[in-house]
Amino acid sequence: MVKVLEDFGLSFDDVLLLPRKSSVVSRREISTTTRFAGKIMINIPIASAAMDTVTESAMAITLAREGGIGVIHRFIPPERQAEEVAKVKRADNVIIEKPTTISPDKTVGEARELMKTLGISGLLVVDSENRLLGILTKRDVLFEDDKMLVSKCMTPRSSMVIAESDISIEEAKNIFRRYKVEKIPIVDKDNRVKGLITCVDLLKREAYPNASRDPKGRLMVAAAIGVKENEIYRAKLLIEAGADAIVIDVAHGHTTMCIETIKKLKNLYGDDVQVVAGNVATAEGVEDLASAGADAVKVGVGPGSVCTTRIVAGVGVPQLSAILECGEAAEKMDIPIIADGGIRESGDIVKALAAGASSVMIGRLLAGTDESPGAIIVKNGRRYKIYRGMASIYAMLGREFRSREEFSEALIDSSEYSYYAEGVEAYVPYTGSASEMIKKLLAGLRSGMSYLGARTIDEMKRNSIFVRVTQAGIRESMPHDVEVI
Ligand code: XMP
Repeated sequence: MVKVLEDFGLSFDDVLLLPRKSSVVSRREISTTTRFAGKIMINIPIASAAMDTVTESAMAITLAREGGIGVIHRFIPPERQAEEVAKVKRADNVIIEKPTTISPDKTVGEARELMKTLGISGLLVVDSENRLLGILTKRDVLFEDDKMLVSKCMTPRSSMVIAESDISIEEAKNIFRRYKVEKIPIVDKDNRVKGLITCVDLLKREAYPNASRDPKGRLMVAAAIGVKENEIYRAKLLIEAGADAIVIDVAHGHTTMCIETIKKLKNLYGDDVQVVAGNVATAEGVEDLASAGADAVKVGVGPGSVCTTRIVAGVGVPQLSAILECGEAAEKMDIPIIADGGIRESGDIVKALAAGASSVMIGRLLAGTDESPGAIIVKNGRRYKIYRGMASIYAMLGREFRSREEFSEALIDSSEYSYYAEGVEAYVPYTGSASEMIKKLLAGLRSGMSYLGARTIDEMKRNSIFVRVTQAGIRESMPHDVEVI
């Protein structure tokens, strides 16, 4: 018999949260630390969407510095996606594990070229066994002839400050303070190069005290894969590049293909790799993916701002109900859920977390920022960026036909693609830096938590009571009966 689930239809606008007795005096008492997946903790409950108009390395770096995590999209070749992951891992890296080296018999011209190409300011000079002989910085070669040998201009090892492998961050800071050097090479007992600490990287670390970092102090980043056979190869490259989590990113995650992909990853990598899977919108979906080994499940079928799944397929669950239902199941399975799509304001983040999500995934609100891929477009004197659903016609055409010629040919017969599209292309207003956007969303979240008397996200989940509102209630919630300036 066909069932109608009448209590399963709440969206963010259908509810408000009851204010609760609060002893929170300052918003600084509030912690927004949360579990993203398995062992991975992040300091703010925000992940960026795995979409080609939202997350590549620039977005992931900014978000991780603010305390969240970016998910690098999968709509580029695996090697390029892995390079995007590597860029995040290299940014603000306190200990560079494989510093660039040069041999002493190369010329200053070659050294200059290498530093310019890689955008670095110094090279470690090593022999054929990777033993440290000296260091060559941009400053050393400022007035030198291109033909001069590296060995003649380098600062020799005997005049350098060197550290051994197990140096701590505090010890490194002391060395910088005392010897006024800018780089500390790390060597083992046989004088073989094991790493490099630079003063600039240490300063960056100090500048972002809330950043999400892995145990080695590098920024955290996740990366998406699909469910086709060759996606395990993609995952392998992403893991080798340092991805902290692999996100199986499909519109309908409650499928045998998704379950099989989770199992394959877990069989290959066990607990070393945190796997996020989705999307689902039912408790059964959460249970099945968690039982297959998922370390977190992404929730949301059709709530996204550029999604048309609900219109095209008639399928979906209003997002607040989906989170409530999935959150309960996830708690029993002891995994977190990520509420994906439909976040329009900070208030929606508060509601999503109160309903049971541990973090939210955001597309549109980040798509208009400097860090999203793509150029700023000026239209009628206003600035915009392009934001598109990954199942929109142009996104589908773009990934299927990679060359310009193939793409143009496909466009001639693009009508078939339009039948399958479940997303749209859109303009979103240009909004400046992603960091400002995140700060604004966080201020709202902290405000919500203080109204709920919650110092942590877990406390907020326990303290929350939703009230249903009517259309009149929604009208009352907006600025009304005034002309907003
Ligand atoms: P927001 O609301 O933040 O949502 O823009 C971002 C999420 O939307 C999902 N997404 C899609 N859903 N068709 C869909 O039905 C699409 O073409 C599409 N593209 C993205 C995705 O879950 C993302 O994180």
